[in-house]
Amino acid sequence: MTGRSGPARPPELISEEAIRDRVDELAARISHDYRERLVDGGDLLLVGVLRGAFIFLSDLSRRLTVPCAVDFIAVSSYEDGATAGEVRLVLDVRATLRDRHVLVVEDIVDTGWTLDYLLRTFRAREPASLAACALVRKPGRAEVDVPVDYLGFDIPDAWVVGYGLDYADRHRTLPYIGSVEPEG
Ligand code: PRP
Repeated sequence: MTGRSGPARPPELISEEAIRDRVDELAARISHDYRERLVDGGDLLLVGVLRGAFIFLSDLSRRLTVPCAVDFIAVSSYEDGATAGEVRLVLDVRATLRDRHVLVVEDIVDTGWTLDYLLRTFRAREPASLAACALVRKPGRAEVDVPVDYLGFDIPDAWVVGYGLDYADRHRTLPYIGSVEPEG
């Protein structure tokens, strides 16, 4: 290995430092908002949406100053032949949501269908409260109006990678958010 060649690094859209600062701000806001709700030894249940949210969730959860628990869910939204808005549950949370304070943690809100599905699904389980946190959102791609209570960044309609986000399963572990041109 020479270390000199290799695949080109995608151009930077949001720097590592900007992400760190924003995650700090989000963690401070979330901690502030939930501090008074979490009485009697309760905690905040963070539900990360696999796979893209794993890095964001990892950093965010470690900066919260309120007690929290972590769980995961996996959904599939982009299968061949799927109609717009069709979301399939692949892996459910292990936790019971009833009477818990639940915060869904997404890497990206694109059309909004995935988050819309998750909020509807979770609401039916009667949590004490339900809110959503997303690292990035593409307002230009929205097909459904879905509330994002804690948002990192609004971004243009580019294919973004890094900090958990992928293109064809590549670039997820880039420390910053970059943009790529889809092949073909
Ligand atoms: C991404 C992302 C969201 C969803 C958002 O998941 O993690 O869950 O798309 O899209 P929407 O707003 O248009 O519904 P993806 O299907 O790419 O899976 P991955 O996280 O495993 O890469």
